Amino acid sequence: MKIRPYSLRIVFLVLLSLTTSISPQASVIPEPVVLEEKRGNFILQKETDIYFPTGNPLLEQNAQFIEGLIQDIDDLKINFRQYSNGQDLPERGIVLALSDLGLKPEGYELSISKKRILIKGYDEAGVFYGIQTLRQLLPEGLEANNRNSGISKVKLKAIYIKDYPQFTYRGLHLDVARHFFDVEYIKKFLELMGLHKMNRFHWHLTDDQGWRIEIKQYPLLTEVGALRKETMTGHLNDEPRQFDGIPYGDFYTQEEIREIVAFAAARFITVIPEIELPGHATAALAAHPELGCTGGPYEVGTIWGIYQEAFCAGKDQTFEFLENVLSEVIEVFPSEYIHIGGDEVLKNHWKECELCQARLAAEGLADEDELQGYFINRIGRFLQSNNRKIIGWDEILDGELPQGAAVMSWRGVRGGIEAAKMGHDVIMTPVSHSYFDFYQDTPETEPLAIGGYLTLRQVYTFQPVPQGFTQNEARHILGGQANVWTEYIKTEDYLEYMVFPRAVAMAEVLWTPKEKRDFEGFIKRLNKHYQRLDALDVNYYGKTP
Ligand code: ACM
Ligand code: ZN
Repeated sequence: MKIRPYSLRIVFLVLLSLTTSISPQASVIPEPVVLEEKRGNFILQKETDIYFPTGNPLLEQNAQFIEGLIQDIDDLKINFRQYSNGQDLPERGIVLALSDLGLKPEGYELSISKKRILIKGYDEAGVFYGIQTLRQLLPEGLEANNRNSGISKVKLKAIYIKDYPQFTYRGLHLDVARHFFDVEYIKKFLELMGLHKMNRFHWHLTDDQGWRIEIKQYPLLTEVGALRKETMTGHLNDEPRQFDGIPYGDFYTQEEIREIVAFAAARFITVIPEIELPGHATAALAAHPELGCTGGPYEVGTIWGIYQEAFCAGKDQTFEFLENVLSEVIEVFPSEYIHIGGDEVLKNHWKECELCQARLAAEGLADEDELQGYFINRIGRFLQSNNRKIIGWDEILDGELPQGAAVMSWRGVRGGIEAAKMGHDVIMTPVSHSYFDFYQDTPETEPLAIGGYLTLRQVYTFQPVPQGFTQNEARHILGGQANVWTEYIKTEDYLEYMVFPRAVAMAEVLWTPKEKRDFEGFIKRLNKHYQRLDALDVNYYGKTP
């Protein structure tokens, strides 16, 4: 039989496709500002040079990040090379550079052509985001950390991308007080944040049910405060309430925290610690009952919900303790913002406490809400004198806001609007769009959750800047954040189920210009993106079992 030329071509193409992994049609999340596919390909095989400018350790670190992404291409040899700043950019290989040409902070340009992959960042963070985009153009199989990936050649379609974020604060919060997630897991969480260009990890380290950060001056905080005697099993509203009878507790040493902070920094993520005060303090009071109005005894919380306990606002000892704690906190967290909680403070004890009432009178305060204002202000001044800024939940608006305080608006957006109009910076994180502990599907078919209902589509419609804001007011909306409260989230699998893909939608909301956002397009890209999440072993909602 005579073989026709086109059949030969098909045989050849089939053979080629067995050994070559052709990169996907460009599909990037968050959607870039400008994306133009070009003709031609860059081929990654055998030997690749990665260039970075001499004397820039952050770009060197970025270069190593690229190595981590491509090192599983079979037989690929990677060479790191440096070039000096005055020199023309290298014309071949993967080239990292800084350039502010027409870009914004954290912005980048990614140009893939036949001979070169060029990533120019406005800053080193921008280069990192260019790398995350490049990552999403590489075959998902490379994510699996498999030295025998079977991928010997990667063909990347030529492309030009210009990109920068809409918001400087793109946050994800995690409560490790109700349930603890270990260092290795926090790293996975941060890795997934970086992949989606999120840049603020709000780490909720203390609450009624557990104190999770080592404080060297007060070892009882973790010896006593990190451990609860048991945990609720059913829902808070169940009658009677159910408990597991199993002691539960863990905490992070300061050394582990430094490790996490460094891991995050390599992904251009700032870790913002939260030390809850004056409420959500039962675990701290169990360790130090002398800091409460009644003197206790207290025990670390075993049920969910809001507790009556708060630090006594009348005792100077309380402030001395908190300042000592915060001094250690700022030693390990370089973040400009330190979160001090401030939410859901019940003030019954303050009403009955002689010392609190004496403080109220001495300071000329009208009521216990103003006493909370006094509390927050005093802590704010302390942080300010240490060159840090205070951030708190929107209840801190109940008293006079400390200078330079930022507000996290969670009880809707009203608090955020009020704070921005007063000239304070704001992070929008309203329950309507940002509470990932809420159900995402009909509760009958879902694992037990706290309640609520928040679909992927609803997350995607989030607009952090309130309608009718002037440009000047909008400037104060730094961005948004999704919150993950873990009362009902006991395992890593369930955590990922609640967080993904909703966090992917949040990432796009906070990065991509409003005009470019389109839910149908997002879903198309997400369906492709699931393969990457699969390779990264993420147990997202909607995963095929
Ligand atoms: C909060 O959800 N209590 C801030
Ligand atoms: Zn008191």
